[in-house]
Amino acid sequence: MHEGLSQHTDILSSPSYQLYLDCALALNEAEGRGFWSTDFTQGEQFLRLQGTQAIDTNSVVAKLNHVTVDRDFIFKMDAHNAAQAANEIGFLQGIAPNVIKGLHTQGHQVVVPGVVHNSVTGKHPWMIQEFIAGKPASAEPYKLDAGALTPRHIEGLCAFIKTCSRLDLGTVEQEGGLRLGEDDSFRVFQSNLDHYGKDAIVGALGPALYGKMSELLANLQFIFTDQAQIFSLGDVNACNMIKVSNECLGLIDFTSVGTINNPAYDYGFLLESLSVEPPLQKHFIYTALRANQDVPYFKDLLRVTFIYSGVINKIRRAYARGDMEQVLWSKQQIEDALLGRGVWEYY
Ligand SMILES: Nc1ncnc2c1ncn2[C@@H]1O[C@H](COP(=O)(O)OP(=O)(O)O)[C@@H](O)[C@H]1O
Ligand SMILES: [Mg+2]
Repeated sequence: MHEGLSQHTDILSSPSYQLYLDCALALNEAEGRGFWSTDFTQGEQFLRLQGTQAIDTNSVVAKLNHVTVDRDFIFKMDAHNAAQAANEIGFLQGIAPNVIKGLHTQGHQVVVPGVVHNSVTGKHPWMIQEFIAGKPASAEPYKLDAGALTPRHIEGLCAFIKTCSRLDLGTVEQEGGLRLGEDDSFRVFQSNLDHYGKDAIVGALGPALYGKMSELLANLQFIFTDQAQIFSLGDVNACNMIKVSNECLGLIDFTSVGTINNPAYDYGFLLESLSVEPPLQKHFIYTALRANQDVPYFKDLLRVTFIYSGVINKIRRAYARGDMEQVLWSKQQIEDALLGRGVWEYY
């Protein structure tokens, strides 16, 4: 159903698109495994390819010598997970355009890449996406570059997450062709606590704070059992954001879209990385709470998601490498969220 070309005839006639398509088809034929990603540069020209296959570098460079790259694309392939690739394509083609149109009428400037060409039925699913030009919001995973995002971006992002969370799941499956699994957020948070090692967490936080943190999760269990599954973007992090302008936010990477019984998941997952910039983090909390006044217990779900999907992971790794400055910083984050202080004050 997703097989084939988009309707963008101007794009399809571009020489660099032909080059991408050539490389895509060559990659799709190639055998071999191992993650592989590269930017080819020839003079002023760029070609960005990412995937899991080996490619004949010489042949790409030879092609680059003969073709003027007149516009950028990104070639994306994930041979290990056809379902994820199909979901990203389905989301970008069948669902996102309407969501974005709705946001534009509300004055939010958010963009996602169009899928120009894709194949999910072959040996390795792949797609060629439009390249979103701009400044990536992060160079490091799960860490925002301070100053990369503006309050306007935060508002557009929250509106995007909210609109997506309201999507009708049946429509998403039928019109987008997505296959959605179910996720139990409570179970994941609890297993994070076990998996990450109680000793490390207690060591980093001290028994009193650890006790409060476990209590919060236990107290909220009843909320999760009552929650319906809703659509979730799944991987909202700074590495998947591109600052197109001070107003316009580019969003990429929708391989993790799915459903979850936690309406605060996408917000809470990002929140830890915003801690490098407390005023922005506070604005995000404020905007998320305002957008979700209709959701009972949203603030509690946001707090618990923040602690259990973001901070807990940061603190565990910092503790393991003896980075006590980071441990103390994360500890403060947890304390503030539990006690309603700092960026959580007044909310
Ligand atoms: N459409 C796009 N426009 C601009 N940059 C992109 C685009 N798609 C991917 N990238 C770049 O490639 C990186 C990896 O792509 P992504 O889709 O996030 O895959 P993953 O996180 O699974 O490696 C991104 O962080 C971004 O820098
Ligand atoms: Mg990514």
